[in-house]
Amino acid sequence: MTEKLAIEGGPKAKTTPNIPMYPGGLEIGEEEKRQVLEVLERKYLFRYYGPEQYPSKVAEFEQAFAKKMGSKHCLAVNSCTSALISALVAVGVGPGDEVIVNGYTFFASCAAIVAAKAIPVICEIDDTLTMDPEDLEKKITPHTKAVVCVHMRGAPSDMDRIVAICKKHNLKLIEDVAQACGGSYNGKMLGTFGDVGCFSFQYHKIITAGEGGACITNDDKYYDRLMGYHDTAACWRPDRFGDERYEGELFCGVNYRMSELTGAVMLAQFGRLDKLLNGMRTAKKRIKDQVQGIKGLGFRRITDEAGDTAIALVMIVDPSKAKPFAEALQAEGVSAGGVFDKGVPDWHIYSHWKHIIEKKTPTAEGCPYTCPHYKGDAPDHYSSDMCPKTTEMLSHCVAVDIPAQLTMDDCDMIAKAIRKVAEAVL
Ligand SMILES: Cc1ncc(COP(=O)(O)O)c(C=O)c1O
Repeated sequence: MTEKLAIEGGPKAKTTPNIPMYPGGLEIGEEEKRQVLEVLERKYLFRYYGPEQYPSKVAEFEQAFAKKMGSKHCLAVNSCTSALISALVAVGVGPGDEVIVNGYTFFASCAAIVAAKAIPVICEIDDTLTMDPEDLEKKITPHTKAVVCVHMRGAPSDMDRIVAICKKHNLKLIEDVAQACGGSYNGKMLGTFGDVGCFSFQYHKIITAGEGGACITNDDKYYDRLMGYHDTAACWRPDRFGDERYEGELFCGVNYRMSELTGAVMLAQFGRLDKLLNGMRTAKKRIKDQVQGIKGLGFRRITDEAGDTAIALVMIVDPSKAKPFAEALQAEGVSAGGVFDKGVPDWHIYSHWKHIIEKKTPTAEGCPYTCPHYKGDAPDHYSSDMCPKTTEMLSHCVAVDIPAQLTMDDCDMIAKAIRKVAEAVL
């Protein structure tokens, strides 16, 4: 006989307290304190021009991160939004260009394109919840300059197909790895497939300094331009006051620099990355293995299980069952949630991106949508249902967070709850 559901007054399947997903399941401790205190004791908090006896914490972090990712260069910045804008500028995106981006991603991936003065074109996702390569190819026009491909919710996009499409159409490829730091695809680290890979170290990320970001690239010229743009475009050069060494080196940039305090926290956090990934991967596998073969319950397709960072287990159910399934799981003590509800605003889903759909801009003349350099008509087709496959796909999803510190008992109880609720609700 099946046990009474907790939502109907029965006993909870999961009796242990929920562990917060971020920061890295509360992994901020002594090493972060030690690193920060070291910087404070030096009394030098700026990453550039520091006393020679102290190697910059930011530079140390950049070197370690580049090595781990298998990339020639890394530039630390103050957020992933900054990283994305810098990457777009570095590869030459600007007025008149279209950039294709996932319809399921945090809105920043799209906002960065507008900030870089280009036109976002919103692309469907498929059952991987990442960019649908078929729709990507359909959305390419003579104005398309680049693609921002988002490894959403921790898992790798179909990089074989996306890289091939970008090559075929001569498009720049920028990877948004904000939610998938440490993930890989067929053994190659995410962020190294395209021209520039962008990372976030904001609070709700696998490793964090509260705020922070990074760009990685193998291309010397893109690295130069990233460096230039992130530091007002003039300061960093070997001879700051020298003539332009090549066309396109000198231009006005912004200040997206990372401070030594952030660099110190990131060095400590970087040291935790493998353990966090290992914890999430072990826990997710243990849960997923126990909930196979249940009627009405499927899973998000993962393009490469070994490369998934495993931050979430996303289950696929009939859309009419998503809400009752998630609510019953919550009552059992599992932190589960539906993904798409038309009536519930969520900045991760294009249909709620009012600022894009209504082409909102900070000043009245409407740049970049009204830019005379832009000859396309993509913004004329913006609407809250412009990517129906995406919203349909997301309406099937119920996600369970996988903090790295789940014990094997926690995992078994989560699996038990899923089985119990699925049997009664699906
Ligand atoms: C997929 C994705 N891209 C970009 C960002 C923006 O990152 P940041 O907050 O570091 O600018 C986020 C952060 O939430 C994200 O999830």
